[in-house]
This record gives sequence, structure tokens and C-alpha cells, in this order.
Amino acid sequence: MNAVLEVRDLSKQFVKDDLGIIALRELSLEIEEGDFVTVLGRSGCGKSTS
Ligand SMILES: Nc1ncnc2c1ncn2[C@@H]1O[C@H](COP(=O)(O)OP(=O)(O)OP(=O)(O)O)[C@@H](O)[C@H]1O
Ligand SMILES: [Mg+2]
Repeated sequence: MNAVLEVRDLSKQFVKDDLGIIALRELSLEIEEGDFVTVLGRSGCGKSTS
């Protein structure tokens, strides 16, 4: 493996109006040199946060 980016179990929660919004839950990924990566998903699923 020659990962240029490695993420392990990344979680992010926002708090708004006393409510917790889990934007990322235990995200893991590896990106290797030369990979072409795109993030797909419905609006609000956490693409920009990741
Ligand atoms: N600064 C913030 N404060 C509170 N909640 C947030 C904040 N930023 C993002 N969120 C919430 O976290 C979740 C993920 O948001 P994110 O912007 O990552 O989604 P997205 O997949 O990029 O959406 P879109 O396709 O609409 O751009 C959503 O429920 C969003 O409302
Ligand atoms: Mg976005």
C-alpha cells in the first residue's frame, strides 16, 4: 500500500439547537497516489464535512 491519505474511524458531530447531528460516523478510507476520488451521496450525508 502507498496511501497518500489515510483516514481511520473519523467521526464528526455538530450541535445545533441542543440537538446533535452526526455528520460522519467512523469514516475510514485510503487514497493512493494516482487515485481519482469522488464522493457521492444525497444532500446532507456528509460529503463536504468529510
Ligand atoms: N456548521 C454546521 N452546524 C450544524 N450542522 C452542520 C454544519 N455543517 C454541516 N452540518 C450538518 O451535517 C450534515 C452533513 O453536512 P454536509 O454539509 O457535510 O453535507 P453534504 O453531503 O455536503 O450536503 P450537500 O450535498 O447539500 O452539500 C448535515 O445534516 C448538515 O446539516
Ligand atoms: Mg456539500
